[in-house]
Amino acid sequence: MRDQAERLREKIENIKMKQLELVNNDEQSQKHAKILTVTSGKGGVGKTNISVNIAIALSQMGQKVIILDVDFGLANIDVLFGIFTKNSLVDIIHNDKNILEVLTDGPNGVKFLSGGSGVEDLIKLDRFQLERLIKNLALLDKLYDFIIIDTGAGLSENVMSFVMAADDVILITTPEPTAITDAYALIKTVSNRDKHKDIKVIINRAETSKEADDVYNKLSMVSEKFLSLKLTKLGFILNDDSVVKAVKLQEPFFLSYPKSEATKQIKTLAERLMQVEEIMEDNRGKGVKAFFNRMIGYWGKE
Ligand SMILES: Nc1ncnc2c1ncn2[C@@H]1O[C@H](COP(=O)(O)OP(=O)(O)O)[C@@H](O)[C@H]1O
Ligand SMILES: [Mg+2]
Repeated sequence: MRDQAERLREKIENIKMKQLELVNNDEQSQKHAKILTVTSGKGGVGKTNISVNIAIALSQMGQKVIILDVDFGLANIDVLFGIFTKNSLVDIIHNDKNILEVLTDGPNGVKFLSGGSGVEDLIKLDRFQLERLIKNLALLDKLYDFIIIDTGAGLSENVMSFVMAADDVILITTPEPTAITDAYALIKTVSNRDKHKDIKVIINRAETSKEADDVYNKLSMVSEKFLSLKLTKLGFILNDDSVVKAVKLQEPFFLSYPKSEATKQIKTLAERLMQVEEIMEDNRGKGVKAFFNRMIGYWGKE
């Protein structure tokens, strides 16, 4: 499968939209990317750091990974990692660019794609613009194994539609009571819409693994008791100065501090994700087109 994707990538590196559509319509390859949405109730809990560093870890494990940055509120990946994304999804819609022209190179072969101004704008698109966008995005299925969507925090309709449409939701919280309360509010909103949504939790900035376990257990107990929703424990990352130092250097800690606790834990998390995805080899959500159909289905729903 990977060789196939590699060949395909080479093939389309230099061709224009018309030809891209041909490749896209070639249904011979049934490859679909796994779509993970990284989210949180409260802001500043580590979503972007975790998205980027897990992406690098997965990439080192031989996976093709792209990060879709849809935190429209803040300059995000740009500032954190000194990467300047010139283009965004908007350029596909309004400036006639194709998907390959709007990707930005990140560290270790990880690619970035900026969401532009977001779902608010997507809702305004006409059918042809939306089709054009989805056709372009669907190409990511064939080129990547993982699409990691880094969202903003909170319960906006914008964020929720990415959460509800994802194959997997990765919910980040710290041990701070405010972060836990906001995480619970997000779980509650999800459970109102889908009791069976698989939410994988990462406890970030824990002082000890025991503290992380305690926080997870508490959250999972109340979710099950009051919302009948079962959480999945993905793991934890300790509070680690290497993360802060790397942010100041505008570098991913995984690369700048390869021996740090945070890097070790990111490796474990990436390995667990791979294991989970291997068990679920059915390509659950069936890729980008299905993702967008689900997303559109959730728009405007309470
Ligand atoms: N494991 C950690 N240890 C220490 N500091 C952390 C850790 N994770 C995140 N941080 C701090 O939190 C800040 C916010 O992280 P960020 O990934 O931008 O959060 P979000 O994307 O959720 O807003 C980082 O700049 C860093 O200073
Ligand atoms: Mg962020």
